[in-house]
Amino acid sequence: MPAFLRDIFKSMSTYKIAILEGDGIGPEIMREALKVLDWIQTSHGVAFELLEAPFGAAAYFDHGSPFPQVAVDVCDAADAILKGPVGLAHEEAIKIPVDMQPERGAVLPLRSRYNTYANLRPVSLPKALAHFSPLKPEVIGEGLDIVMVRELVGGLYFGEKTVGVNANNKRYVTESLYYDEDQIRQVCRVAFDIAQGRKKVLHNIHKSNILKSSVLWNEVLDEVAVDYPDVSVVNMLVDAAATHLCLNPGQFDVLVTENMFGDILSDQGGGIVGSLGLMPSACVGDGKAYYEPSHGSAPDIAGRNIANPYSMIGSVAMMLEYSFAMPEVANQIWSAMQAVFADGYSTPDLAVEGVTELSTGAFGDRVLDKLNAA
Ligand code: IPM
Ligand code: MG
Repeated sequence: MPAFLRDIFKSMSTYKIAILEGDGIGPEIMREALKVLDWIQTSHGVAFELLEAPFGAAAYFDHGSPFPQVAVDVCDAADAILKGPVGLAHEEAIKIPVDMQPERGAVLPLRSRYNTYANLRPVSLPKALAHFSPLKPEVIGEGLDIVMVRELVGGLYFGEKTVGVNANNKRYVTESLYYDEDQIRQVCRVAFDIAQGRKKVLHNIHKSNILKSSVLWNEVLDEVAVDYPDVSVVNMLVDAAATHLCLNPGQFDVLVTENMFGDILSDQGGGIVGSLGLMPSACVGDGKAYYEPSHGSAPDIAGRNIANPYSMIGSVAMMLEYSFAMPEVANQIWSAMQAVFADGYSTPDLAVEGVTELSTGAFGDRVLDKLNAA
């Protein structure tokens, strides 16, 4: 297509985005993400049609399901899905039947419906913001810039489960960890592709000294590696990886791992950068993608306008990059957020000495100021 036509086409683009604000701090951090979407529309000639839908615990109480049909229809119709965190405090969550609790009853069905098998979780902290990390400056070195690639639709999360009473009259439970080779191959390819575009080193995190699932995982990963001769693979046991992430995080660039390990290590990623509030994510597959913070709904601080919206706004940036091919705009957003931090501001989760605390809304406004000034 000639460039001028492409420009016209681009200027007419309308993208449908499903907006699932979720529970707890979801609505307040989503509000800041919507400010950024609005800015993109006015500044970049793109139109977003925002389709709001109920999702999460509130949806369960209002519609009888945490992922009601109306939300399914909206997500099906959307080009991409932007999702806030879901879930309630334990005392409230137990009022919902186990299978209707939003993590099991909404998030997992969302992931499997769109087969978003690769979950990309950047763990990123520029050197200038190293003071946010609990790690010593000499450990942070030149800053952290890791991409964790977590398998998202297999393993223990989706395996068969049985609950019952055994022959000794004891209650028991089984949960199976199932992967077939195609499931492993597809996420490994995503990880190799990302590694190839970066430092060409891929850490494969596994537990093959115990788990047969890791033995197969490693076999398949080695097969995929043949297609990526320029990427070197470093195999590391998951328990050791947890230590290395604290002691020498700079050795990691891209890492790939199965679902449960990735859940745990990515929260550790939030720990080493100083807050889970700094953890956006993209859930991608071969079709529609969805974007969400890696953290939960933080019911303890919900409604107080103090939550960090970085993870939600960062999820917008990832959506622009992966679903809408607008990486330059995504970069503007990352830079704007980092510039607000670099000016000496943060939300209270990151408030260390010398940093001025901002509310959720004030952080979003400053990001907007930076975007408008750029
Ligand atoms: C995450 C969350 C989810 C998970 C929950 C909400 C189902 O912890 O995205 O890391 O365990 O995958
Ligand atoms: Mg998690």
